[in-house]
This record gives sequence, structure tokens and C-alpha cells, in this order.
Amino acid sequence: MTSPNTAKQIANVMNETRVFPPSAEFSSRAAIGSTDAYQALYDESIADPEKFWDGQAKSHLHWFEPYTQCLEWSEPFAKWFVGGKTNVSYNCLDAHVRAGRGDRVAFFWEGEPGDKRTITYAQLLEDVSRFAAALDRLGIRKGDRVSIYMPMVPELPVAMLACARIGAIHSVIFGGFSAEAIADRNNDAQAKLIITSDGGWRRGKVLHLKQTVDEALAKSPSVQHCVVLQRVNNNSPMTDGRDVWWHDLVSKESSNFPAVPLDSEDSLFILYTSGSTGKPKGIRHTMGGYNLYAKRTFQWVFDYRDEDIFWCTADCGWITGHSYIVYGPLSAGATQVLYEGAPNWPEEDRFWDIIERYKVSILYTAPTAIRAFIKWGDHHVDKHDLSSLRLLGSVGEGINPEAWMWYYEKIGGGRCPIVDTWWQTETGGIMMSPLPGAIACKPGSCTRPMPGIVPRILHSDLTDVGTNEGGMLCIEKPWPGMLRGIWGDDQRYQEAYWSKVPHMYLTGDNSRRDEDGYYWIMGRIDDVINVSGHRLSTIEIESALVSHPSVAEAAAVGRPDEIKGQGIAVFVTLKNHEPSDAMRDELKKHVRKEIGALAVPDEVRFTTALPKTRSGKIMRRLLRDIAAGKESAQDTSTLEDFSVLAKLRSDEES
Ligand code: PRX
Repeated sequence: MTSPNTAKQIANVMNETRVFPPSAEFSSRAAIGSTDAYQALYDESIADPEKFWDGQAKSHLHWFEPYTQCLEWSEPFAKWFVGGKTNVSYNCLDAHVRAGRGDRVAFFWEGEPGDKRTITYAQLLEDVSRFAAALDRLGIRKGDRVSIYMPMVPELPVAMLACARIGAIHSVIFGGFSAEAIADRNNDAQAKLIITSDGGWRRGKVLHLKQTVDEALAKSPSVQHCVVLQRVNNNSPMTDGRDVWWHDLVSKESSNFPAVPLDSEDSLFILYTSGSTGKPKGIRHTMGGYNLYAKRTFQWVFDYRDEDIFWCTADCGWITGHSYIVYGPLSAGATQVLYEGAPNWPEEDRFWDIIERYKVSILYTAPTAIRAFIKWGDHHVDKHDLSSLRLLGSVGEGINPEAWMWYYEKIGGGRCPIVDTWWQTETGGIMMSPLPGAIACKPGSCTRPMPGIVPRILHSDLTDVGTNEGGMLCIEKPWPGMLRGIWGDDQRYQEAYWSKVPHMYLTGDNSRRDEDGYYWIMGRIDDVINVSGHRLSTIEIESALVSHPSVAEAAAVGRPDEIKGQGIAVFVTLKNHEPSDAMRDELKKHVRKEIGALAVPDEVRFTTALPKTRSGKIMRRLLRDIAAGKESAQDTSTLEDFSVLAKLRSDEES
């Protein structure tokens, strides 16, 4: 079922017929410079996927010991490059330094207050090695789980790569999550260590991260130590025997800590994401396959060249930061910009200022940011020279054609292709996107699949859809970057992704394919909503609400939002309380405490009862329509009564 917002967007993109081919100049310099070249690569990858990926793995990763089998597929469990020994941090760092490229800049970092650091690959290798040695000294061993809750400072990728270097499994938790959410993740993963910072900067204010971690650690018995980076000097209290400063730890270590040869199928990280239940899923990725897929998709999609400056504006707390700040670009030896703060600090032109100063040539950002830029006004863009840009990217949700056109014309000056990249936390890397020198763009379409990826779109009766018909998007064959499971829950992995459609990976998205073979994503098929490009399950928000002592029942739905794509509306019935603005604020605060700022409802509506079908199911479609303003309730004062509407509609939904 699609939300009204998604429906509006589909109607929009359904009418979209414009086509934007790359310029001859762009194509002539691109690694894959024509549709024929793309098709040849794709056909080769599909004709014999194992042979294709074997060739890729041999030429693009370092193997301490060769693998004996390319793929072991025991559905739904895949093993790639079986028996091979590699190390992701070696592929990202040592490989470049050994090739004489240690002086290349890995990161131009800028803090929100304007502080700057330039870090070469050689320096990054030293920092990672020192921190890996420190982790080892703290007793962290291969397979141990390490939570990371940090601002976007260079030490965040350093911490991730140091874990990878010794085979500890990192679980990065986005800095906007609450103490409760951190504790849940610590407990699910049984994390032994957490790495944080005293704070970080956001819109001119300090976020006191360590304080939030202290609260979380009161409920995280498995965590033995907390490493704290000093970033804002806010005199964070330290707990004796548990907490240790980052700078004290590394000062004792040498920068010579060789990468440990690890099994290709050892776990690299867990990243929690929302599913269609209240409990976030710990998506598990492993070493060799993920590393290869992140590296090659980065090179294919962004057509990266040595002279490029790449800037992905995501946070490392999301999969986009994992794959296209840390593992993809670094294993490709790219030079990147890394920025700590908000796009509107100190002014709404911060991004354009950064692009001008660092001569960024490839920008990868999210539609929600693009819509905010449009709202803030063109004059912020006009102040800056953006002529260094040659390629633009979009990720996290569908990009509406209006935003696409603005991005293309205003930011790209009409000369930069836009790669609209469709993928998921689970897929590890980009699954569909134009290759910019080869595939003409259509605004709102993620166009064609990556090499090795075979999408199928099915009706609910499992028959294939026809051209331009919507249906469930599935992926037919295993690919190296695919998730290997859900942490600690093989059954949920099987049920969520491999049971509804036999022998295929179920993405959870709806899609259609047009007459040119282009794919268009049409929103989720489950109760997952996409707020500012971030996945939230409505049930997660409902569980948070009903954990408040005054709430009897709650239903959360997505509603259209001009900037965020979808906003959150919740309908609440109270136990013995009168609805009030104070209660509304309290419930918002409660959700912030339980999950984090990103899940705070935009609208709290009180109702005498939730509308239900005769079988007792909440009528979500009705609530979505009401939240979108399409239908009005019987009583529009503070306490709404949906019973009449519900009666009218119950036959339809039951
Ligand atoms: O619904 C799709 C939407 O975001 C979901 C994946 O969310 P997450 O795992 O948080 O990863 C986001 C970053 C990769 C997808 O199932 N989505 C992501 N990219 C696009 C998109 N929808 C349409 N077009 C996209 N380019």
C-alpha cells in the first residue's frame, strides 16, 4: 500500500518524459562511456556472475591468502570468496601507501565552527594503526562488538577502520539517537566497548554525546569500557575504571600495527535499521564481498578519477556513510571532503561555500536536503562559484522531478549528470543508478541495475508485471554486498527477506519498469516510512508511545511533508487523561527520549478510539488520508471521533 505522499509522487513521475543524456565531452572521458559499453559489462556479469565477481575480486582486493570458492550459496545464506583472507583496512589504507600514494589527501575535514584538518592516506594509516593497537590493549578481540556514537570528525572513520583492522565488529549509532536507542543496540549486539566523544557541534550548539552515552551505559551491562574523544572540552565527567580518553590511549601506542589477515566471511559491521516491527534489525555485513561491492559501485557510479574531490554529505551513522565515505571511496584511493555540521550554519550557503573552497567535483546528497535548499532560496547559491562540479548524486528516497530539475540546473549548471542511486542498508551498496557517462537520466528514475544485479518486479500472486505496471521489487541472484543476516536472528532474516517470494530477495519497495527498461521506485510495501531519507517503522513509534503511562493506544502514519518527504502523524487515545497541549508536548518528548529526535511526531492528534476494521485491524489507510487532509474527522475539536468514517470505510479495508 502506498502513502498519499508516495502516490502523489508516483503520479508526478508517471508523467515524466524528459530524458537527459550525458554530454559527448562527459562520456568521452568516462570509464564506461556508452550504453553499449554498459550493456556489454552488464551482459558479461549476468552470463556468468561467479566468473565476473571472481575477476573483480582478484583485481580489486588484496588477498593475504587466496579463496578457494567464489560463492557458496545455501539459500538464503551466501558466502563470497570462501576461505580467502583479506583485511578491509589494508585495502583502504596500506594498499595505497605501499603503492607510493601515501601523500594523497584522504580527507579535507571541516568542523562546523570552521576548524580544518587535511589528512593524507599515510597519516590516516598511522592514526588507524595506533587506535587499532589501543583497542587491542583494551582487550578487544576479533568478533567482539564495538558501538560507536560520534560526531562527523575524522576519528569516526578512524574508529571504524581500526575495528576492521583487528576484526572487531563495529555498530555505528547515529548521533541523533537517544540513550534508550543506544542501550537497545548495545544490548542486542552485546557490545563490549563504546567509542564516543564529549560532544559535537550542530547549528552552533554543542551536542553532549557523552552525557547521552552515560545514560545508555546505566542500562548496557555488556559494555566494559567507554573511549571518549575530546572534541568540545565540556568537562564531561569520566567514570573511573570504565572511561578512558582517546588521546591518553593512543599516546602509548606505536603506529606500526599490521592489518590482521581475516576471513572473507568474518563480520565487518552491524548496522541497525527499522523493519516492519518495533525492534530494529542489526543488518550484518562481512569483509570481502562488502568491500568489493562498495569499491566497485563507487567507481562505476561516480566515475571517480584521480583529480576528483568527492563529497558525500551523509553521516557515517547511516549505510551511505559506511559505503560511500568510508569503505568505497577509501578503497578506491579517493580524496574527499568531510564536514561535521549543519548545511545552514552559520548561513544557508554553507554547502556551496564548501564546494567553492575545496573545488568539490562530485556531490552526493539527499532529496530532503535539496528541497530545503530550494526553500532557502537561490540567492544562497548565486553567491558561489560551483563550476568545479561535474557530477551530482542523490540517495535515500525518490527525488521528485521538480527537485531534480533544480539540482540539475541551479547546482549542476545544466552540465552535470545526476546519479539517482537506489539501494538499502541491506544491499551494502548501490543497486540501481545511471552510470553517468553511459545512461541518459530521466528525472525521478534510478534507471538501470548495476553489473551482477538482476531485478524482478512481481504481482502479489508472484507473476511478473508488465511494462509500466507496479509490483514488488525483488532481486534474483545473490551479490557480494548483500547482507549476510540479521544479528542473532536467522529466522527473522529468512522471514523478512526470503519467504514471501520464493528464491528471491524481497526489497520491501514497489517499483515499475518503463518501456526503455528504466526502473522507477514507488515507495514501500510495508509500514516503513521514510523521513528525510531515514527509515522508521510506524510500529517502532507506536511502541514508544504506548510505553507512556497515559497512552492507551496509538497509531503512527506518514503524511506528506514538503521538505522531509514524509512527516509523522500520530493518533493517540489516552487512558484517563484529558487531551491537552501539555500532553501533546509530553508525548513528543517521550518519543524523543525513547528513539531520538528523528522520530518525534510532527503532529499528535487525540481520538476517542482508533478506527478499526471488524477484524480489529487499525485502518491505516483512513488515518493516512486524514493526516494528509484528504478526509476530515467527525469532530475536529481536540478530541476526534473517527467512528462514523470508520463505519463507512470498514468494508473497504477489511
Ligand atoms: O525505500 C527505498 C528508499 O530507502 C530505502 C532504504 O533505506 P535505508 O536502508 O535507510 O538506506 C538509505 C540509503 C541507501 C529503500 O528501500 N530509497 C533509497 N534510495 C532511494 C530510495 N527510494 C527511491 N529512490 C532512491 N534513490
